Formats: sequence, C-alpha cells, structure tokens
Amino acid sequence: MPQVRVDEVKRFMEESLQAAGAPPSEAKAHAELLLHADVTGHYSHGLNRLELYINDIKSGATDPNGKPVVLKESAATAWVDGRDALGATVGNFCMDLAVKKAKESGVGWVSAKGCNHFGMAGFWALKAEQEGLIGMAFTNSSPVMVPTRSKQRACGTNPVAMFAPAANGDSLGVDMASTTAAMGKIEIQIHKGEPIPHGWALGPDGKTTTDAQLAFNTGHLLPLGGFEQTSGYKGFCLSAMIEVFCSGLSGANASHQVRSWSLDSNEGSPNLGQCFAAINPDCFAPGFAERVAHCLKAYRNLEPVDPSLPVLAPGDKERANAQMTKDRGTIMYAQRQIDVCNALAATVGVKPLKVV
Ligand SMILES: NC(=O)c1ccc[n+]([C@@H]2O[C@H](COP(=O)([O-])OP(=O)(O)OC[C@H]3O[C@@H](n4cnc5c(N)ncnc54)[C@H](O)[C@@H]3O)[C@@H](O)[C@H]2O)c1
Repeated sequence: MPQVRVDEVKRFMEESLQAAGAPPSEAKAHAELLLHADVTGHYSHGLNRLELYINDIKSGATDPNGKPVVLKESAATAWVDGRDALGATVGNFCMDLAVKKAKESGVGWVSAKGCNHFGMAGFWALKAEQEGLIGMAFTNSSPVMVPTRSKQRACGTNPVAMFAPAANGDSLGVDMASTTAAMGKIEIQIHKGEPIPHGWALGPDGKTTTDAQLAFNTGHLLPLGGFEQTSGYKGFCLSAMIEVFCSGLSGANASHQVRSWSLDSNEGSPNLGQCFAAINPDCFAPGFAERVAHCLKAYRNLEPVDPSLPVLAPGDKERANAQMTKDRGTIMYAQRQIDVCNALAATVGVKPLKVV
C-alpha cells in the first residue's frame, strides 16, 4: 500500500480544511484529531473522514468560524450549544470545560447540542486522561443501526470512550462504536476492495452481507453483538444509553431524527448531541492509578489461547499502532483513499498528497 509521511498527512489535512474556509487554529485542531486516528490505526476516522468535513463546510452544514457557547451551567455541569462549529472546535471547548470543572468540583459533565461529527470519541476522552482524570466522551450519529428485531434503522453507531490514567504513565482506554463496527470501517473495506465479515451489516434483503459497498449503500449496521441470538440487543441498549446522554440531555436531534448518512449530504446541519465527562480519581479511594495498573498487568499476563497472539488490555492495540507509526514515520493508505483525497485536493485547490 502507498505510504505518506506523517507530517505530509498533517500538511494536507490542515491546508484542505483551511482552503475550505476553516481558520488556521481550527484547521490545526481538527487535523490533530484526524491524524490521531490514522496514527493509532483507526483509518476509518482519519484522512477517510476529511471528505465529509469539507463537504459539510461547503454545504453550510458546518460553520468553520462557529464558536460554541454555554447555555446553562452549575459547578459540575454545563449545557453547550456547539453552533454547528467544526467537531474539534466543539470537542476542545467542551472537554476543556469538563476538565476544569472536574479539577474544581471532582466531576465535570458537559452535554452539547448543535454539534457536527467529532471523529474518534477516544481522542476526547484521552484529553482528560492526560490531565490525570478519567475522561469519557459520547456522541450520537446518523441512523444506521437496525435495532434488534427491527426491519428499519433508528439508532446511531453511537460510540463510547473512556480513558483512565494508570501508574507509570500507562492507561486503560476503551473507545468503540455501539455497532459491531463503525461505518468508516466499511468504507475502508471498500477502499481496499475487500469484503466485510459476516455480522457487521445487513443487505436490503435483511440478510447479513459481506459486500462492503452493499452494506454502505444499505446503511443497516448490526448492533454490537450482532443478532439477538448472539446478544446484539446489548449493543442496541448501549446505543440507546448513549442517546440519553447525548440528545436527551442536550436537546439535539436523536439519532433517528438526524439527517441520513452520506459523505456529501445536502440535508443541512446534523444537530448531533455530544457528551464530555471528566472525573477526578483523587476524590475517591487513594491508589487509583496503581489499581488500574494492577488490572492492566493482570490482563496482559493471562495465558493466550494462541501463543503468537498475546492477550491485550483495552487501549493496547492503539498504543502499539502509534509506536509502529512513529518508528516508520509514515502512514499506509489504500490507493483508492489517496485517489479520493487527491480529487478532493483538486476541488479545494491544495497540493496533492505526496506519496513516498
Ligand atoms: N464520531 C462518530 O460518529 C463515531 C461513530 C462510531 C465510531 N466512532 C469511532 O470509530 C472508532 C472505531 O470504532 P470501532 O468500534 O470500529 O473500533 P474497534 O472495533 O477497533 O474497537 C476498538 C476498541 O477495542 C479495543 N480492542 C481492540 N482489540 C482488542 C483486543 N484484542 N483485546 C482488548 N481490546 C481490544 C481497543 O483498544 C479499543 O478500545 C472509534 O475511535 C470510535 O470512537 C466514531
């Protein structure tokens, strides 16, 4: 697969967002969010999402100069209007506020309406973890999940993320969609020209499909866990819980009211709901970071079924991917991903991606 230097990817993302109308500070912040996804191996939410953000700026769904505002506040909570600003603009505003409140009051819980797609939920939770706090982030999304027993879609891929600091600079990180896989993972399979596994999505006939393009076009993803027989209703429940935090608290659209999933929507602002939380472990039993480290050690020391596949703790895969990217200095993309980005570059007038 073609490789692109990490700093070149960053250049491309920043310049493209600026060319579309984002101020330099917000283009930089948004590029950091996208780059983190590619660096940690979540190619679904890096360069792959640039097209969506640029199309949303062009259509007016996203206001790249938008500034979030606090609508209501208490010592530990805030209700925010994201005012259709870029995902990173709202994410930074809300998580900075949650962190400040957690440092002052022990807990910070911020719910926002008027949001756009904010990329990897984990990027936002990690921001609080880097301040020594437990960070959590949630978002709703366009309706692409078929709830258990339903023929119709209604829920989002609504991700949940939680990062907790552990002793010696370690951390426990959970960041996942409430569908079996994020929609972007299906897009990556399309770019690679490869099928998706059984149990990710249904075709128009209501049967599981391995055809990535058909799955994308149909937009009927299965909840985490798959069918009812394999407890897929738990993914549905998880998505519904996240919905309560996101649209329930903020007054944003619920997933079933959000515009349909498309990379070039003409349906206006999605008015997503998002939630950012931070908890100060110092307000609880002493020795938190040591206990989390103890859990991580216990998981990693388990005897694996296959000795060539060691047991991983949540967050280990992303850490290993980040190290691999750092050592290599480049990110590998499918040729089709590069082609899509270079077509995009031509429309906004920036230099194409330089492949090494
Ligand atoms: N903004 C949005 O609307 C939106 C919607 C859905 C998903 N997303 C993002 O998409 C990304 C991908 O989500 P996903 O659900 O497809 O990811 P995924 O299926 O790769 O799951 C990732 C999680 O599983 C853990 N993990 C992976 N392999 C493991 C193993 N062997 N043992 C233990 N833990 C393991 C990872 O550390 C991570 O916490 C996430 O960053 C998510 O936030 C965003």
